[in-house]
Amino acid sequence: MKTQRVLTGITTSGTPHLGNYVGAIRPTVRASRLAEVESFYFLADYHALIKVGEPARVQRSTLEIAATWLACGLDPERVTFYRQSDIPEIPELTWFLTCVTGKGILNRAHAYKAAVDKNTAAGTDTDADVTAGLFMYPVLMGADILMFNAHKVPVGRDQVQHLEMARDMANSFNHRYGQHFVLPEVVIEESVATLPGTDGRKMSKSYDNTIPLFASRAQLKKLIGGIVTDSRAPGDPKEVEGSALFQIFQAFASDDETSALRQSYASGIGWAEAKQMVFERLDREITPMRERYEALMRDPGAIEDILLAGAAKARKLSTPFMTQLRHAVGLRNLRVSSVDAKAGKTGGAKTALPSFKQYRESDGRFHFKLVDAQGRLLLQSQGFASPKDAGAAIGRLQREGATAWQALGEQLGIAEGASENDVAAALQQLVEASSA
Ligand code: TRP
Repeated sequence: MKTQRVLTGITTSGTPHLGNYVGAIRPTVRASRLAEVESFYFLADYHALIKVGEPARVQRSTLEIAATWLACGLDPERVTFYRQSDIPEIPELTWFLTCVTGKGILNRAHAYKAAVDKNTAAGTDTDADVTAGLFMYPVLMGADILMFNAHKVPVGRDQVQHLEMARDMANSFNHRYGQHFVLPEVVIEESVATLPGTDGRKMSKSYDNTIPLFASRAQLKKLIGGIVTDSRAPGDPKEVEGSALFQIFQAFASDDETSALRQSYASGIGWAEAKQMVFERLDREITPMRERYEALMRDPGAIEDILLAGAAKARKLSTPFMTQLRHAVGLRNLRVSSVDAKAGKTGGAKTALPSFKQYRESDGRFHFKLVDAQGRLLLQSQGFASPKDAGAAIGRLQREGATAWQALGEQLGIAEGASENDVAAALQQLVEASSA
């Protein structure tokens, strides 16, 4: 029953490089093919605004990254693939989380601290050129993750601290408002935790040492040729330890291929020859994807449609969940008095509560509906195979409210004339009453 939700995003601030592919895209596309996972992939374009002030670059990067994921085998029918800025609930949740996040925690975020340290070293004001966007980056990321109650978040090692912060936010929110969020876990591809760039440091846009994933063959060859090596001559044994070239190869090669290259290093392969091998190995994996990528880039309209369909799918979850969260924090429908809900909680006989009615249809299947205290129909279920299954769904709705409503998805239909707000409010009353 408990499918694992895996979620990850890529900031749309550049052109995807080998580090993104190996560290994020490839493992998540592979994971998305497993039966027991439900995957969420998104383009973090709100995050891009923190770093990129050129609108055309944000748009271009969004297109390139979307095309990259699709070219790398992502199946948008199977996963939920969307653009962050198409989900207005994310910035709304960002605010809720902002209000439960200690400023001191954000002061310690690596990216912010690095900026402060740099300013301090330069003797300028500690916050010079630091936007509040940079400072708030971890909260926006927390909202991305918690919005969909992701269990696992595959990221690079540099993002581990952000995941810890997301867990903190989930904890603080749950502590204050009740159990709403799953605590997400970070997933790191150990073998490729961080891919080195051409200069041997972590491959990163900010170091200008990246190899674009879909560089042309000629460019790819040239960039691999430019990877730093030491000055040992052909015939001299070489160290794999600390060799960026070796690590890049390893990220693409099988164990056998890797051992073979290790052997060649020991027996003194020349750097030019080693680079040629690395180029060929990478190009073999990349070529078929590059062809799909180029075709996709010629049809941006098709990509736009895929993203909009993905957003619609994502919002089926985020919209009711946000209704629940708004209610939880007290942004409530004024028709539902919290005094009534409390009375229900203490078993006060005077307050009528919404209720579930179970029945069997002529198709032999077991259905239920939710009606409010006045008997007005709010939700109607699909048929369940057994009364036990129907009862289990009702039990979850009573305990977890709108979280269960979200999880049950298509199995529940909202009644005509009832709003999502009505349903969320009724479920909240039941949760409060059952947790008394
Ligand atoms: N911060 C991530 C990066 O730079 C991108 C990102 C934004 C992300 N929101 C996320 C990753 C949520 C995972 C989950 O790589």
